[in-house]
Amino acid sequence: MTRCRIAVLASGGGSNLQAILDHLRALGDARPADVVLVGSDRPDAGALDRARQAGVTTSLVTPADAASLARSLEEHGVQLVALAGYLKLVPAPVTQRFAGRMVNVHPALLPDFGGPGLYGARVHRAVLASGAETSGATVHFVDEVYDHGTVIAQFPVPVRGGDDERTLAARVLRAEHLLYPRVVAALAAGRAPARGLALPPLDPDLDDDTNARRLERALAR
Ligand code: GRF
Repeated sequence: MTRCRIAVLASGGGSNLQAILDHLRALGDARPADVVLVGSDRPDAGALDRARQAGVTTSLVTPADAASLARSLEEHGVQLVALAGYLKLVPAPVTQRFAGRMVNVHPALLPDFGGPGLYGARVHRAVLASGAETSGATVHFVDEVYDHGTVIAQFPVPVRGGDDERTLAARVLRAEHLLYPRVVAALAAGRAPARGLALPPLDPDLDDDTNARRLERALAR
């Protein structure tokens, strides 16, 4: 079986990278993809440590240097790029070359609570300030505008009374870790979910395996 070659770009701790690595490892020989490269704009990113631990090649990215980013992706035969907490704008020549093959995960239900400056805790603060009863995780294609490309799938997460940005962030991150690897694997396998797929919400009171099974059923529809 030829497997899709994935690059992950990350600026931070890399828990979504880890979720992708773990999911593919759990699929064993049936995995449709391998992460062959992890790139970061920050030499101290935890994501790079996670990549090294997993034996994946790492690379330091100069964010505005489209030519070197494109070259590095090409040298590694990358077919699909997953942004996972990558805080820089990907230059247009690269998003165009990877149109339909570059995805991102965002910790809210886009198009709400996205765009320049809305990342990390700021997203959750904005959701709480708005009084929204639902947040969630969005996986979308990447274009040259922050958080703007076509939505692939959204996994809603309830906002609970008494939530603060930490508790909400943790619940949404749980949803990201369930959703993102499954969408990435589906894309890698050529089974892209219907665009804009609205999934049944995460049930925070159920365990991850149960939520994952529900998610997989909905993604397969
Ligand atoms: C996640 O919340 C992701 O949605 C956002 O940045 C965060 C990255 O977290 N784009 P991690 O580095 O994957 O732990």
